[in-house]
Amino acid sequence: MNVDHERAAPLTELRGARLSYAARGAGLFRPPRVQALVDIDLAIAPGETLGVVGESGCGKSTLARVLVGIEKPESGTVLHGGRDLWAMPADERRRTLGGGVGMVFQDAATALNRRLPVHRVLRDPLDVHRRGSGAQRDARVRELLGLVGLPSSVADALPGQLSGGQRQRVAIARALALEPALVIADEPTSALDVSVRAQILNLLLDLRERLGLAMVFVSHDIQTVRRMSDRVITMYLGRIVEEAPAERVTGHARHPYTRALFSATPGLLDPIEPIPLTGPPPSATRPPSGCPFRTRCWKADERCAESMPDFRDEPGETPDGHRFRCHHPVAASESTHQLVAQATAAQSTAAQDKERS
Ligand SMILES: Nc1ncnc2c1ncn2[C@@H]1O[C@H](COP(=O)(O)OP(=O)(O)OP(=O)(O)O)[C@@H](O)[C@H]1O
Ligand code: SF4
Ligand SMILES: [Mg+2]
Repeated sequence: MNVDHERAAPLTELRGARLSYAARGAGLFRPPRVQALVDIDLAIAPGETLGVVGESGCGKSTLARVLVGIEKPESGTVLHGGRDLWAMPADERRRTLGGGVGMVFQDAATALNRRLPVHRVLRDPLDVHRRGSGAQRDARVRELLGLVGLPSSVADALPGQLSGGQRQRVAIARALALEPALVIADEPTSALDVSVRAQILNLLLDLRERLGLAMVFVSHDIQTVRRMSDRVITMYLGRIVEEAPAERVTGHARHPYTRALFSATPGLLDPIEPIPLTGPPPSATRPPSGCPFRTRCWKADERCAESMPDFRDEPGETPDGHRFRCHHPVAASESTHQLVAQATAAQSTAAQDKERS
């Protein structure tokens, strides 16, 4: 966190990354495709935490999988340490990923091999990547258990014999085994009891500080994402629509969707109606033309139907590192109360127009 993120060379970068899937359950003959990632540009600096927010299905986990090299984008480039991941020979790619980036999944119960005792789970990456001697690997396993606050007595337990919180600690220890500079955490607490979520979040925060880790943090709990992160990106139907410093994202975001998302989880001290959006997200296989948010946006007009706006920033008005894709951005000074009033008025005008026609 005390690294100068602006100037440090990125650990990992995506340039123009695109990935689509054949839609699930659509049959075998020419199924429609879901655009899960569209033209993603992103850079993660050493020591920084990047938060990712957006509704279910917007592409957060796909982004995480592409960053960690589990999936290859159809086009665009993934750079690790400035080098093109998918241009490397396979063994070099494995080495680069194994030592450079660790992943913590939502559900440790399925992510860990249930037949291996904890010490084997933790030794496995050390064996695969031939790190140190046998004795050094055993010492590292003990060190990892201590790092994540587990007693050495769990070393012989099977994952199924542990509590959910302990299992997630093992998963975190495994992600750290090869001393990566970057950890990707995709919903690391959502499968856990509410009572242990805070412990796991605190563990991640503590490890980040102690080890100087960079982190990509994905969660539905967007207030937690904001608190954990230096920078937050908002995704909508596979696109990044805004990237903002975390301290600005709640009250000073410029994209209408970011403001609507954060208005839906107000602080307890300032209860407020959320900004109303029109309808559910559109089908990911047939996104609207132009700006894909236009079918739900209270500021949409013909221009929004014609073209997807490019990223813009406004030097002087928005700080460095804040960029957004919108033809009619919210003014940084507009309050959530004002936006609720605008959106409500736009919806009642639309309803009247519909009645008349
Ligand atoms: N293996 C797959 N096959 C087909 N479609 C997929 C696959 N994985 C993801 N998708 C689709 O790609 C889109 C993005 O999915 P993704 O899991 O990345 O979203 P998400 O933001 O992580 O959602 P959630 O918040 O529910 O975890 C969705 O429309 C999803 O249905
Ligand atoms: S481009 Fe138009 S539709 Fe898209 S978010 Fe901005 S105002 Fe709304
Ligand atoms: Mg997901």
